[in-house]
Amino acid sequence: MAVRAAEVSLSGPPVAGIAPSGEPFSGPFSGPFSGPFSGPFSGPFSGPFSEPSGGPSGETAPVPSPRPPADAPVPAWCVPLRSRATRRSAFYGNLRRPLYPVIKSESVDPVRNPYAPGAGQRPPELAGRDRELQQFEIVLERVARGRPERSMVLTGLRGVGKTVLLNTFKSMAMQRLWGTGKIEARPDQSIRRPVAASLHMAIRELAPRHRAPERIEEFLGVLKAFAMRDPAAAKGTSHWSPGIDVPASRGRADSGDLEIDLTELFVDAAGVATDLGVGIALFIDEMQDVQAPDISALCAACHELSQSGGPLIVVGAGLPHLPSVLSASKSYSERLFRYARIDRLDRDAADLALIAPAEREDVEFTPEALDALYEAADGYPYFVQAYGKVAWDLAPRSPITADDIKVSAPEAEEELAVGFFGSRYERATPAERDYMHAMAQLGDDPVPTAEVADVLGRKPSSLSPARDSLIKKGLIYSAERGVIGFTVPHFGRFLRAQPL
Ligand SMILES: Nc1ncnc2c1ncn2[C@@H]1O[C@H](COP(=O)(O)OP(=O)(O)O)[C@@H](O)[C@H]1O
Ligand SMILES: [Mg+2]
Repeated sequence: MAVRAAEVSLSGPPVAGIAPSGEPFSGPFSGPFSGPFSGPFSGPFSGPFSEPSGGPSGETAPVPSPRPPADAPVPAWCVPLRSRATRRSAFYGNLRRPLYPVIKSESVDPVRNPYAPGAGQRPPELAGRDRELQQFEIVLERVARGRPERSMVLTGLRGVGKTVLLNTFKSMAMQRLWGTGKIEARPDQSIRRPVAASLHMAIRELAPRHRAPERIEEFLGVLKAFAMRDPAAAKGTSHWSPGIDVPASRGRADSGDLEIDLTELFVDAAGVATDLGVGIALFIDEMQDVQAPDISALCAACHELSQSGGPLIVVGAGLPHLPSVLSASKSYSERLFRYARIDRLDRDAADLALIAPAEREDVEFTPEALDALYEAADGYPYFVQAYGKVAWDLAPRSPITADDIKVSAPEAEEELAVGFFGSRYERATPAERDYMHAMAQLGDDPVPTAEVADVLGRKPSSLSPARDSLIKKGLIYSAERGVIGFTVPHFGRFLRAQPL
């Protein structure tokens, strides 16, 4: 039995060569081409057999195949090569189509693997985020109408899907013809130039629709003046060329005080958007890394704008302690932003994240496989993608079974150990690693710093440098005083498996 996205429960044992639904064969090269390899020339081996004869639209009926007996053996040579799409597997993949009636195997083609583990990688299915999407829809609508509305700030551990959701918000704003810009904050950089660059992008999106070019030019003059007040630029260390042809204006957004300048710049940008009946959205990822004075200036500018009803919003994403960073900077920050805690996916959403993309490729999972995947990935989107990807690559045929998950889990874990955990662990110094190992001994949840000191047999104050630098490196966070947690889910578990 396999599971479909629409929760259609199918009966009867899966049969090699026949989709469990009993439909005629619909292997990887016979269905509609919806994946990234859907172009007419999808790869070096997209020969005459790589597409249905009806072309990329895939409207031609799949090649029918007689239903073999349930216990029909699958010859070894028709099982696709595992884990890699080599030149050879791609070549034989092309041959598979004319051979389908003979092979009768429902293969899980690595080339069409839909899963996307990776920072900011758009998932094949954005599962379990309907509430946030609806909330943001309302924010956009209200702000465009000049209604008072708090903007949104997404918070959560690493790998839960903040960046992906922020990018989706950006697309939503663009669909409404808003001007949009995005920056990724860095602890060592003022936001002045990144903000200037991203607002420049936002205005470029709006400019072609604006009836009064002089209004755009006027704004660009202010934007240029704002960017040029960057202290780094004054020292000649900066080479950011804003590509703005108009001369820098004088006397607006160029005082050198970021709070004043940002406020003036935002008010002017909002004015341009108002002319068009739209808004501007500025997205800031890794917002906890914005330097303290800049955060304060940013909040003040947003505060000013919210009072005047200007249609410009700052939408942020960051680690779980971002709300405390913001409120430490301005007490009114809670009235500016609606915090949306982005967490692991619940069972239904995690299943959907796996099933929906697979279904588009005519691949299915057994319920036991989904149980095993949920247990392994624990609902964390990054892990869902990582385990799903390896399971797909190693599964010999659809439906993907619990056994396939068992076989593939070690490889997925190894990839996570290197790419997700290891790359972060390597950033820590020996003293910082000791600190994290001590945390890991106390479990996976946030722990009191005093207990970490106890484990290490040290005075808490002597550990402050290691702790502070781990926070700066984004490996641990402190959402409340005296308590510390890992920013990376399952990091404690990973550390406990590491030799000291
Ligand atoms: N709602 C979701 N459903 C399925 N997969 C998701 C979802 N959100 C994120 N992912 C996947 O999780 C991984 C991490 O996403 P990312 O946005 O980089 O997380 P964060 O910014 O919180 O560290 C990516 O591989 C992405 O494809
Ligand atoms: Mg991110």
